[in-house]
Amino acid sequence: MLYLRLKRLIMNKRITGFSKLPKAEKISWLANTYFSDAKATKIILEQYWNSNEKLQQLHDEFIENTITNYYLPFGVAPNFLINNQVYAIPMAIEESSVVAAASKAAKFWLDRGGFKTRVISTTKIGQVHFMYHGHFKTLERFFERVKPKLFENAKPLTKNMEARGGGILDIALQDKTKDLKGYYQLHATFETLDAMGANFINSCLEQFAETLKKESLAFDDFSSNDEEIQIVMSILSNYVPDCLVRAEVSCKVEDLNEDEGISPQDFANKFIQAVKIAEIEPYRAVTHNKGIMNGIDAVVLATGNDFRAVEAGVHAYACRNGQYTSLSHAKVENGIFTFWIDVPLALGTVGGLTNLHPLVKLALELLQKPSAKELMQIVAVAGLAQNFAALRSLITTGIQQGHMKMHLMNILNQFKANDTEKKTLTEHFKTHTVTHNAVIEALEKLRL
Ligand code: MEV
Repeated sequence: MLYLRLKRLIMNKRITGFSKLPKAEKISWLANTYFSDAKATKIILEQYWNSNEKLQQLHDEFIENTITNYYLPFGVAPNFLINNQVYAIPMAIEESSVVAAASKAAKFWLDRGGFKTRVISTTKIGQVHFMYHGHFKTLERFFERVKPKLFENAKPLTKNMEARGGGILDIALQDKTKDLKGYYQLHATFETLDAMGANFINSCLEQFAETLKKESLAFDDFSSNDEEIQIVMSILSNYVPDCLVRAEVSCKVEDLNEDEGISPQDFANKFIQAVKIAEIEPYRAVTHNKGIMNGIDAVVLATGNDFRAVEAGVHAYACRNGQYTSLSHAKVENGIFTFWIDVPLALGTVGGLTNLHPLVKLALELLQKPSAKELMQIVAVAGLAQNFAALRSLITTGIQQGHMKMHLMNILNQFKANDTEKKTLTEHFKTHTVTHNAVIEALEKLRL
């Protein structure tokens, strides 16, 4: 009985060939199968579909089974002084206080020399993972023989990149058998210039794998079955510890003076303690770094880059020494307060969505069409600024004051406040603490 009910449930909701249906039919099947009223169709079709057919089609074709668009606010944090140039940084993010916090930090450092940045390295990594159970010495001999061919056979793929100054930097054979029996890698390093390089790297790796397999079959010293090379997979790594950028701010301790009811010296001491806690305490480090990622992800997303790749790489970097730790650091030396971040960022300003998505194009234009290196620096600054703003609140007023102030509009919208109510209550809460209940009470009072 239960089985039959479950089977019916599955049958009612399953579909084959969904991706082949025209969009209208996809929506109507979803509406009939998963929604009880016409509201869903209205949201999908009327509220979030773009009336510009060409633009809608562009979005439809980014992925499979697009039924509508998912909007995020696209905000701008102005006044970022980076290496003596002023930027307005585009941010795509839903969290109420992030853009406000970034803007506040930008303004703070604008008057104190701004952000200084430098790209430390730009090397990206890809691997061909394979199994081999023969003698390592024989494999090494084979690798030395085949190495030039790996480069040569990838030439059609690397020609253009090389002409621009990039390409394959090196290919190394790695013995990983201590960790997994019979497991080896070709560990390749790449310079991909202004491209994030995922497609370039993956295409090169697949070519390496093909060459490796083909040449191994013709290598006389491989005679037994154990010496057969079995390719498992070829893929770039999103762990990019050698694609690293530093962003930094510094000023005299006495110039930290602000109106948060704390002396500059105390502010610097408390700030450094907060960073030290994140350096040694993983529970705090994760939240500390989450605040950094608020800034990083928002710019990465606005500029059409792969925020999942960045997230994965950054967190791996944060535990590169075996314990998850803070990405940022702070010190006072000779009366100078310095706060900095080292962060791995594999970003692109050409390829991918950069020339396709109108808002991504706009974001890059707003940033004066940066190179990938310049974008790495801007993104690192957004992360550092966000971290500075969060720590500054945490060690002075607490985070909720600013956060709830920015969240006020969300609560008002949740209770369908009209424009006059919003205006009155925004004014009211300039001098009162925002809590969920306080907003409801004030709204009810206003509506009496
Ligand atoms: C909230 O999105 C981010 C913070 O929790 C970061 C932090 O605690 O440092 C405020």
